Amino acid sequence: AKPARVAVTPGDGIGPEVIHQSLRVLEHLRSQYGLPLEWDQLEWPSTDWHRRHGSMMPEDAMEQLAAYDAILLGALGDPGPRRDPNRYVLSDSVSLSPLLEMRKGFDQWVCERPARQLRGARQYLADPRAADTDMLVIRENSEGEYVGQGGRLRQGQPGEIATQTEIFTRFATERIIRYAFDRAQKRAAERRAANEARTFEALDGQTYESQVCVITKRNALRYWGDLYTEVFAEVAKDYPDVATTHELIDAACMKFVQAPWQFDVVVASNLQGDILTDLAAVISGGLGVAPSCNLNPDDPSRPSMFEPTHGSAPDIAGENKADPTAMLFTTARMLDWLGETRPPLADAGKALFEAVAADLEEHGHETRATDAIGDAILARLGA
Ligand code: NAD
Ligand code: IPM
Ligand code: MN
Repeated sequence: AKPARVAVTPGDGIGPEVIHQSLRVLEHLRSQYGLPLEWDQLEWPSTDWHRRHGSMMPEDAMEQLAAYDAILLGALGDPGPRRDPNRYVLSDSVSLSPLLEMRKGFDQWVCERPARQLRGARQYLADPRAADTDMLVIRENSEGEYVGQGGRLRQGQPGEIATQTEIFTRFATERIIRYAFDRAQKRAAERRAANEARTFEALDGQTYESQVCVITKRNALRYWGDLYTEVFAEVAKDYPDVATTHELIDAACMKFVQAPWQFDVVVASNLQGDILTDLAAVISGGLGVAPSCNLNPDDPSRPSMFEPTHGSAPDIAGENKADPTAMLFTTARMLDWLGETRPPLADAGKALFEAVAADLEEHGHETRATDAIGDAILARLGA
C-alpha cells in the first residue's frame, strides 16, 4: 500500500515534549510492524516560527499540509515570558489561528473527544459509579460560535459595542447529529461484541443499548435551539434503536459532574462542545490523558488533524513534567483512522492504545517525568 504521510507539527510549550514521545513510539511501531507510514516534522505553525518569520506559518502552509494524509499536532499557544523575560508575548488570537484555519480549511467538521475513566487514571469524582464513565463528546467543528463574524464599534470609547455572531446551518447541524447517531450505533455494536452491553433509559421509559444526548440552550437562545431540536428529532427517526435525550448546557455541566456514567454519546455546538470537553476531560482523568481529533469523514484527500484536548501548558513547559498520555492516545486514534484503508496501521493503533491504557493502570497514580512515561510504554511495546 502507498504509505500514509503525516505532517508532525509539535507547536509550542509542552507540544514538542509530548510529540517527542509519540515519535519515539511511532519509530518503534513502524519497524516492529513494518508500517506503511512516513512523516515529516515541521517547524510551523509555532510561535518560534513567528518570531523568526513574522507569521505562524508560511504563506503556502495550507497547500503544503494538503499533501498529507493526517496532521499530528502537539499544541499551540505562546508559552510566554515566564522562562525568558525578553521573549515577546504573542496573543492567543494570533498563535491559535492556524488551528482554526486547519479545521476550517480542511473541513474537519467532526471533533471527537472521548471521556472514559480508565483504570489507573486519576478519578476526581468521589462517587464510585464514576469509575464507569465512558462517553464520547462530539463537538461540531465547522461553524456556530467560531465563524469569526462580528466586530467592535467605537473601539476603545466608553460607548463601545462588540458583536460576535453565531451561525448555524441546517446542513452542518444535520451532518453532525447524524454522525453522533452513527457513532452511538457503532459503540453499541462494539460493546455487544465485547460482551459489555450497557443500557440507557429514554424518556419513553424504554431501555436502549446506546444513547445520544443533544446539548442546547434553547430556553434562552431560541433560533439555534429550535433548529438543533428539530433536526435532532428528524434524524432520530432514522435510529429507532438509539435512546435520545436533550440537556440544556447548564444542566449538562451539572450532570457531567453528578452522574457522568449516564451519558453515552453527547453532541454539542462548537463552543459548548469546547467547554464541555475540558469538563469531560477532568471527570475522566484530567487533561493529561484526554485525546481529541478533528476529522473530515467524507473527503479522504483532505488531512484530518489529531491533537490532544490540552493546550501548550505554559505553567509546566520545558520541565519534562507534561503527561504524554493524551498525546499517545491521540496518536493511537490517528493510526486507527489511517488504518481504515491500511489495516496494519489499525493493528498498531490498537496495540498502542492498549499499551498506554495498561501503563496508566499500572503507574497512573505515580508522579513521573514525560520521558519516563515514554520509556515505560516503549518497553511495554517490546522496544
Ligand atoms: P492548557 O490545557 O494548556 O493547561 C491547563 C492546565 O492543565 C495547566 O495547569 C496545565 O499545566 C495542565 N495540563 C495541560 N496539559 C497537561 C499535560 N499533558 N500534562 C500535565 N498537565 C497538563 O490550557 P490553558 O492554560 O488554558 O492554555 C494555555 C495555552 O494553550 C493558551 O495559549 C491556549 O489558548 C492554548 N490552547 C491550545 C490548545 C491547542 O493547541 N489545541 C488547546 C487549548 C488551549
Ligand atoms: C481546543 C482549544 C481551541 C478551541 C482554542 C485553543 C482555539 O481550546 O482545541 O479545545 O477553542 O477550539
Ligand atoms: Mn478547548
